[in-house]
Amino acid sequence: MQSRSHTVDRDPARVRAMFERVARRYDLANHLLSGGLDFWWRHRASEIVKRWQPRRVLDLATGSGDLALTIQRKLPGTEIIGVDFSPEMLAAARRKGLAKTVVADALHLPFAEASFEAVTVAFGLRNMADWGAALKEMARVLTPGGHALILDFSLPDGFLRPIYRAYLHHLLPWVAGAVTGERAAYQYLGASIEKFPSGDAMCELLERSGFSEATAEPLTGGIVTLYCAAR
Ligand SMILES: C[S@@+](CC[C@H](N)C(=O)[O-])C[C@H]1O[C@@H](n2cnc3c(N)ncnc32)[C@H](O)[C@@H]1O
Repeated sequence: MQSRSHTVDRDPARVRAMFERVARRYDLANHLLSGGLDFWWRHRASEIVKRWQPRRVLDLATGSGDLALTIQRKLPGTEIIGVDFSPEMLAAARRKGLAKTVVADALHLPFAEASFEAVTVAFGLRNMADWGAALKEMARVLTPGGHALILDFSLPDGFLRPIYRAYLHHLLPWVAGAVTGERAAYQYLGASIEKFPSGDAMCELLERSGFSEATAEPLTGGIVTLYCAAR
């Protein structure tokens, strides 16, 4: 049984180096380890963004671009900019067709206030050095009335939790290590999920960081949660 005593090093230089190392096999590991569910999670997120009908969308920690590209397919007339601090990950996104990418740290965005109607981040906020500061920076670049969407891992409740923890801390690092050669990165994944605020705790953090109307929608039994909030 895992406890919550996992230590998590979210030093930006280490996090960036870790993603640089897994960039080449990141998508394969994602699809394999989620059993393809990550396609559904991003589909659900993009449906919500489509409802907002934004003119400009900023996708933070865009990585290999999967969420940005899913949104782009739903909203072909919308300008989508993908930001990541890993050039290797952005190179993968561009190869897949993401036209606009910017190398930047999500905590210090090179955009003016009120530049975007929507800001999204999938599986990225959890890795950032300061979650509150990152959310405040998201709020800064959003137009008043604009929306934020956060998709990230969480822990399921009830009987699923111990089963999921066993998968997360034992089987997953082993399989991902075989696929990417970077087992430590996937030990970090489990530890980071244990530490990341979810449900009401994340909604409260959003409300303290410049947002209102925060909602949490657990998906797939709570393995991931989709948060939305208004600026
Ligand atoms: C798990 S990947 C997620 C990629 C993509 N959003 C997805 O849904 O597959 C996390 C990404 O966050 C990026 N990242 C982490 N911290 C960041 C920060 N402070 N600023 C910009 N990018 C960051 C990493 O480089 C990595 O590409």
